Parts: sequence; C-alpha cells; structure tokens
Amino acid sequence: MKHFIDLADIKAAEFLDLLDLAVLLKQNQHTTASQRLAGKTLGMIFAKSSTRTRVSFEVGMYQLGGQALFLSTQDIQLGRGETIADTARVMSRFLDGIMIRTFSHQDVLDLARYGSVPVINGLTDLMHPCQALADLLTVKECFSSLKGLKMAYFGDGNNVAHSLLQAGAKTGMHLAVATPGQYACSKSIVAAASEEAEKNGGSISITEDPLEAAKDADVLYTDTWVSMGQEDEKAARIKIFGDYQVNERLMALAKSHAIFLHCLPAYRGLEVSEAVIDGPASRIFDQAENRLHAQKAVLVRLMES
Ligand code: CP
Ligand code: NVA
Repeated sequence: MKHFIDLADIKAAEFLDLLDLAVLLKQNQHTTASQRLAGKTLGMIFAKSSTRTRVSFEVGMYQLGGQALFLSTQDIQLGRGETIADTARVMSRFLDGIMIRTFSHQDVLDLARYGSVPVINGLTDLMHPCQALADLLTVKECFSSLKGLKMAYFGDGNNVAHSLLQAGAKTGMHLAVATPGQYACSKSIVAAASEEAEKNGGSISITEDPLEAAKDADVLYTDTWVSMGQEDEKAARIKIFGDYQVNERLMALAKSHAIFLHCLPAYRGLEVSEAVIDGPASRIFDQAENRLHAQKAVLVRLMES
C-alpha cells in the first residue's frame, strides 16, 4: 500500500489489516510504545472545511510521536495557481506524507503521481475512504464481525456512499443503497464493488426505494443531502431527498438491534430525524472517535520506516 486514495486500490487483506491495527492502536492509545512515527511530519492540505478530519489527523500524528501541518489552500500558493505537480514535488522534499481534502479527485491522483511521499485522501467529491474505514471499525465493534451484516445507506450517492460500497465489499457485508434516480452512485464504482462483494461472500443492491433498503438492516447510514460545494442547490435537494430521511418509521423496518451511523456533520430534521440521531440506536460519536484510530492505522502503514 503506497497511498490511501481510492479503496479500489487497496486489497481486501490490506483493508482488514488496517481494521485490526486500528483496534490495537485504540487499545494502546496513550502508551509511548505507540509512538511509531517519531520525527515524521504530515502535511494536511484543506480546500474545504473540516472538523473531524483536521482534528483527528492532527491528534493522530501527535499520538504517534510525529507532527502535522495544517495547510489551507487559502494560504498556500496552490490556491493562487501554483500547480499540483509543483506543489507535490516541493512538499515531498519537506514532508513524510500528505493528506489532502479537495474537490477534484484527479488532483489527489496528481499529487501522488508527481510527489514522492504517501498521499491520503481526506475527502474528494468522489470518495471519502478514511470515513469508510472508521465506519467499518465502528460496525465491527458493535457486532464483533462484519461478514453477513446488512448495511443500508440512504440519500446522496456521492463520496461517502462510494467509499462505503467499496469498503463493505471487502468484508462480506451486504450493502443496500437507496438514492433518488438522478443522485445514484457511479455505475463503474457500483460494478467494481459488486464484483468484489461477490468474491468475499457479500452483495450490493441499488434501489430508489428507501423502505426496501431498510428492511432487516443491521446498520442504517446517511449523510448530508447538501455536500460541500453544492450549497447553491440546497433548496432543490431538500425537496428531492425528502423521502430518504432516516426516521423512526425507517428504523422500524430494520432489525431490532440495528444501529444508526452518520459521518457528520448532520442536519437534524433533514437527512435524519432528531429522534433517531439522538436516540438509543445512534453510534455517531463512537464513529467520529474512530476516525482517529482508523487513520492512525493508515498513517502507520504508510509512513512507518
Ligand atoms: N466526516 C467528516 O469528514 O467530517 P469533517 O468534514 O468535519 O472532517
Ligand atoms: N458528503 C459530505 C461529507 C462530509 C464529511 C460532503 O462532501 O460534504
């Protein structure tokens, strides 16, 4: 594993190893023996806002004995037109790894192509692999094993849904994704994930019907209807996604032990009802915490000498 950009490039065994390492690092969070990146520096480029990603990577590097640099594109020359290629080459002379959150997925691929240090995708319009790793860590903690569980996703078939499909496919889970037709997941990502899921004893089903997806689910998952960069479409999206809200009616179709997940930030009363997100099935804060542990596993595998 050279980079952590697209889960399609990570083998199932590597992904499962990251989950195991994350569990171990979580258990040893405050021991000095876990300072496996002493003297290393991670650069964190942000072209979009962040709470969880920024704080968890910064704290994660600190706990591993290294340090992190917050680099907003509003401040660095990348935001004034310096190329990704030059940025990658220069940063590779200073840093041991780069995490980037941006709009275009291609920019992340280019950063990896022109640089010589590991690149981590901290979210693009297309994917959010760090989130999916933390999500499956959370599910694993709740149910002990992932194989055979049904996870249902509701709402926009974009970055979070894509990475969730790719991740679930590696673990033998059954993924059901319910989105409005025009906001369906990428066909090529679904096709590749379906193939991978089948190999691992799982499955992927795509529907426009949220009730069908919720039926007998072990995990119900949603994300904002208005992703970063789509703010102008907010009013239209709220109308289109109305039927995909995760509420008590939808939860009632799932298994009685079902849990609710959300990558956050959440908008109560839109993609999820207050009763569900603040209710007994919600595991959102464990899920947010697990960003730290999951990403520390990624950092160790990519940056440890
Ligand atoms: N879930 C997530 O990536 O949160 P932030 O946008 O706060 O980083
Ligand atoms: N889909 C959301 C995820 C935020 C973590 C967005 O891209 O804004």
